[in-house]
Amino acid sequence: MSDQALERLRSWRAEVAIVLGSGLSSIVGDPDRDSQIAYSDFAEIPRPGVEGHAGRFVFGTLQRTRVIYAQGRSHLYEGHSAQSATAGVRLLAAAGVRRLILTNAAGTANPEFTPGSWMMIRDHLNLTGTTPLLGQPQFIDMSDAYSQAWRRQFRAAAESIGVTLHEGVYAGLLGPQYETPAEVRMLRTLGADAIGMSTVLEAIQARALGLEVAGFSCLTNWGAGVGNQPLSHAEVLETGRAAASGFSRLLAAAFRG
Ligand code: HPA
Repeated sequence: MSDQALERLRSWRAEVAIVLGSGLSSIVGDPDRDSQIAYSDFAEIPRPGVEGHAGRFVFGTLQRTRVIYAQGRSHLYEGHSAQSATAGVRLLAAAGVRRLILTNAAGTANPEFTPGSWMMIRDHLNLTGTTPLLGQPQFIDMSDAYSQAWRRQFRAAAESIGVTLHEGVYAGLLGPQYETPAEVRMLRTLGADAIGMSTVLEAIQARALGLEVAGFSCLTNWGAGVGNQPLSHAEVLETGRAAASGFSRLLAAAFRG
């Protein structure tokens, strides 16, 4: 671990960290140099290589709570192991963070959850075939992986500001190709509401470290075969950017209390 960079991360004394997925980095304004640390300062974090993922930690505040934003993340589909894809979570925990908010862009498999809206993750299906705990037998309890107490708080915040916040199950897949219509039908049968390529490994790693976790999917598109439009990364980024301000308002309301 790069001690100097970790010391800087720790010096912000943040209790909460927020991982921003595809197209959601705009939640953070333009930080000055002293308020950011590039992932490249940490040897253990792989460089994010996907458009829409910046690759830095940014210090911020939400009302009176100190937060660290993680702009960009590494994915399995870039060729990283589950261990390296979750290095950022371990660093944040080492920096003193106790509560983690994971966000992502996802396709919607639920005909009632329309693209452009947000879904709070109630539970997940880890369909990546791997785990950051591989090789270390930690039999952690995943039955309340996405904190009930925190979900209650976000639900109340969404109601108070009139933002639609669905709740459902996120299926995390390897990618990078989007699903076939048959796969989306299968995932729906398995109980998935949203489908993406991230988040589940970070949630597992965070729970193994004892962090409280919340997760939010920006529903950027209909899953394959649910709508009749072809899927594209450009559409995912565009819808993510448009929906980001609703999420900013939700965060502000949730931390007001
Ligand atoms: N499937 C998987 N991952 C995604 C999607 C999708 O439809 N949209 C954004 N990320």
